[in-house]
Amino acid sequence: MKRGKSETRLDKFDMFTSLSRQRSIQILIGVGIMYMLLVTLEIPFVFNTRLSGGVSQEAAATTLPRRSELQSEEDLQDKDAPSRPFNWVNSAETTHSEQQQQQAAASSRPVKALQIVSSLRFDAETFDPSRKDGSVELHRSAKSAWEVGRKVWEEVESSEEGAVLEGDKKKKPLNQSESCPHSITLSGSQFLKGGKVVELPCGLTLGSHITVVGKPRAAHPEMEPKIALVRDPDEPVMVSQFIMELQGLNTVEGEDPPRILHFNPRLKGDWSGRPVIEQNTCYRMQWGVASRCEGWKSKADDETVDGQVKCEKWIRDDDDHSEESKSTWWLNRLIGRTKKVTFDWPFAFAEEKLFVLTLSAGLEGYHVNVDGRHITSFPYRTGFTLEEATGLTVNGDVDVHSVFAASLPTTHPSTAPQKHLEMSSRWKAPPLPEGPVDLFIGILSAGNHFAERMAVRKSWMQHRLIKSSNVVARFFVALHARKEVNLELKKEAEFFGDIVIVPYMDNYDLVVLKTVAICEYGIRTVRAKYIMKGDDDTFIRVDTVLNEANKVPEGRNLYIGNINYYHKPMRYGKWAVTYEEWPEEDYPPYANGPGYILSSDLAHFIVSKFESHKLRLFKMEDVSMGMWVEQFNSSKPVEYVHSLKFCQFGCIEGYYTAHYQSPRQMLCLWNNLRQGRPHCCNVR
Ligand SMILES: *[C@@H]1O[C@H](CO)[C@@H](O)[C@H](O)[C@H]1NC(C)=O
Ligand SMILES: *[C@@H]1O[C@H](CO)[C@@H](O)[C@H](O)[C@H]1NC(C)=O
Repeated sequence: MKRGKSETRLDKFDMFTSLSRQRSIQILIGVGIMYMLLVTLEIPFVFNTRLSGGVSQEAAATTLPRRSELQSEEDLQDKDAPSRPFNWVNSAETTHSEQQQQQAAASSRPVKALQIVSSLRFDAETFDPSRKDGSVELHRSAKSAWEVGRKVWEEVESSEEGAVLEGDKKKKPLNQSESCPHSITLSGSQFLKGGKVVELPCGLTLGSHITVVGKPRAAHPEMEPKIALVRDPDEPVMVSQFIMELQGLNTVEGEDPPRILHFNPRLKGDWSGRPVIEQNTCYRMQWGVASRCEGWKSKADDETVDGQVKCEKWIRDDDDHSEESKSTWWLNRLIGRTKKVTFDWPFAFAEEKLFVLTLSAGLEGYHVNVDGRHITSFPYRTGFTLEEATGLTVNGDVDVHSVFAASLPTTHPSTAPQKHLEMSSRWKAPPLPEGPVDLFIGILSAGNHFAERMAVRKSWMQHRLIKSSNVVARFFVALHARKEVNLELKKEAEFFGDIVIVPYMDNYDLVVLKTVAICEYGIRTVRAKYIMKGDDDTFIRVDTVLNEANKVPEGRNLYIGNINYYHKPMRYGKWAVTYEEWPEEDYPPYANGPGYILSSDLAHFIVSKFESHKLRLFKMEDVSMGMWVEQFNSSKPVEYVHSLKFCQFGCIEGYYTAHYQSPRQMLCLWNNLRQGRPHCCNVR
């Protein structure tokens, strides 16, 4: 039975091969499914990165989220940020003994009484509007800011704190409806008459919403569109876009109002060639990283805002719908699921089509709905609070038909500092030592920057060198146009003991006066060896900057910072410097304003020149300093020390000072530093 034997063997072989064939078919199907899954998931990702990477490297780099740092920062935020309720009675009770202990522990040196007003001598002759050195305008505005400021400060001093504030509280509820309307309605013509600004006198609050009914205009040709790539310089680009902004109108005079939310739908003309919506913020005249919605729904792992995605999907002209639906159909069949019905909406705005847009303030950010559909969400950024959003503007290629704002706050935000200030003796400055100190740090700040000052107190001002009074830091603040702010400021100054009031009306062009006041305080009040100037959004590594100063041999004059050589004034544009203001072609070498150090001899020179009315003043305080140091250097040598680690824009690893840091970032940097890591916190 040879045959039979071989037959059975053959049968066995057949069976074996068919078995293995079956298995390999199964494997193939498995691989196929995996492949389809990967392809459907990856397509949007590939498109996304190619688009942004191809056109703008920077955009691609900045849109990559830094998850780990974000998370750690948020953890920190949870632990550190919620401030205690403002409670004068309690804090006064508990602080007395605590403060005494602190005083005893911090310094055994004799201490000085608290002085909250700068002792820099201004008088009628200080500001001379007939000066011939190009500073006529500055002297004129300084003179009036000084005269008004003196009266305002007298008023603040004489108003009996308790009486005024109690009076305010009692009066407010009765007159609320007048000053803080619950809702605002404007027709298109009223909106135009108001300069395309809707004033929100008391800002926004949680749940406030603003509805804008409008119609985008048809695209028009533009020769130099800022939002497009110009291929042919002679060929105009068709553009249709508009900008809706929430702005903080109550800011320092002369400074651009912060753009708390910048919402910019680009129907036509964007460099990507497609409709997009850009959102951003502008803080201290510095733009943040733009968030672009390009028609792809935000990825599942991206941060959501009150549970909403940052960007919704809309139909793009490059979507291949047939392919997509085919592959999903195929996949659904394989997995055995029924087909899911999805519907894609077109871009929310179309030329000459009416839209109804509603912007609402949520817990975590702003949400924009158009025609009843959610379009974008934008998480709150920086130290802005909702009360600070005091104006809505709509500009660009759009006709506004009406604006409605409702669910607005019914109390005035004069109570806003209460949310930021944490009246705990833990954050009080140690009293001034009688003897000289190594380093004095003067920090420029504005009256209403309560949150910024609090973040500085809770972060780098906690450094052991400051706690032990080897280094002293003080905020230099001028007077605010609103009386409530000044009253709060005075109380804040008395409580924390770290504010020096320079009594003139604050103005962006007059910050140079605060710089002179810093020098004066540094040499007279604390008798510091070195004087440093910073801003309230500058994070300073106290020991590191002091080391830098100590590296220069004893007895030499020094000027340390991120030094600009051969910079020229901008002669046109919004921030232009006129030839009257600065007649020379170049600026002197000058250290960038956010963080620089001087030796005390230089400060003596500046103060004595100022007091003898011989100091030339220029509106840019850092350039002024460069000019004064240059003058000094012509008779006595000054050691100029340049380092990029005194950061002008943001932060670099191993920084000495970081700039444009929001209150959240300040706390994050401090937390890193306490763990011995001078790492940046690049989330705004
Ligand atoms: C409300 O304010 C107005 C002035 O703005 C004042 O004339 C009026 O008396 C106030 N009303 C009350 C009830 O205080
Ligand atoms: C400082 O003065 C010295 C000596 O006159 C000069 O050589 C040097 O260039 C000056 N430095 C600057 C930065 O102006």
